[in-house]
Amino acid sequence: MIFVNYKTYESGTGEKALSMSKMIEEVSQTSGVKIIPVVQALDIKEITSNVSIEVWSQKIDPVTPESVLEDGAIGTFLNHSENRFIDFETLSTAHDRTKEIGLKTLIFAKDIEELEKISSLRPDFISYEPLELIGSKDVSVATAKPEVISYAATISKNAGIPLIVGAGIHSSQDVKKCLELGAIGVAVASDIMNAVDPKKELLDLVEGFQ
Ligand code: G3P
Repeated sequence: MIFVNYKTYESGTGEKALSMSKMIEEVSQTSGVKIIPVVQALDIKEITSNVSIEVWSQKIDPVTPESVLEDGAIGTFLNHSENRFIDFETLSTAHDRTKEIGLKTLIFAKDIEELEKISSLRPDFISYEPLELIGSKDVSVATAKPEVISYAATISKNAGIPLIVGAGIHSSQDVKKCLELGAIGVAVASDIMNAVDPKKELLDLVEGFQ
């Protein structure tokens, strides 16, 4: 599976977010690879009203997580590099609230130590994204951190929680490598959101699952 994180890219905002989501829906349906748009809170309602694939939120307000659920999101990222919690306890409380209302969760970790801790919260997915490689144009997590991904995969297997890997993913080879090392999917942003032809880029990433 592929999580496409729109972040605050212009290409993933407002009307462009809707066209991007329709393109993702088409590629997901034709390829059979599950692809989830992870969109800005303000765009969730419009997108979920117009596509039939799962749509996720980039974050929740820990006090009112119901709002994204009411708008039609199925799940949410937690502790992404752009929305990191101040400490584990705050993350844990927010995660409990999020699960309580029925949203799926993916929690990010910047390293192995954090990955072990977040696994104890039992989210639906755990994700390893080394902060220094996020947005990288040349070096991906797959090429720079294969041994860490393997270790993360062991944690994932022992915990029985699927692993998603991200940071600098740009090619079908990157995707293939992450899967070989034990991840079940990838999280990607800049490769798609900055692309001149996002569909072409997404089709390339999908190749990694073939
Ligand atoms: O959540 C995915 C994102 O943080 C990775 O960003 O630009 O390195 O694909 P990017």
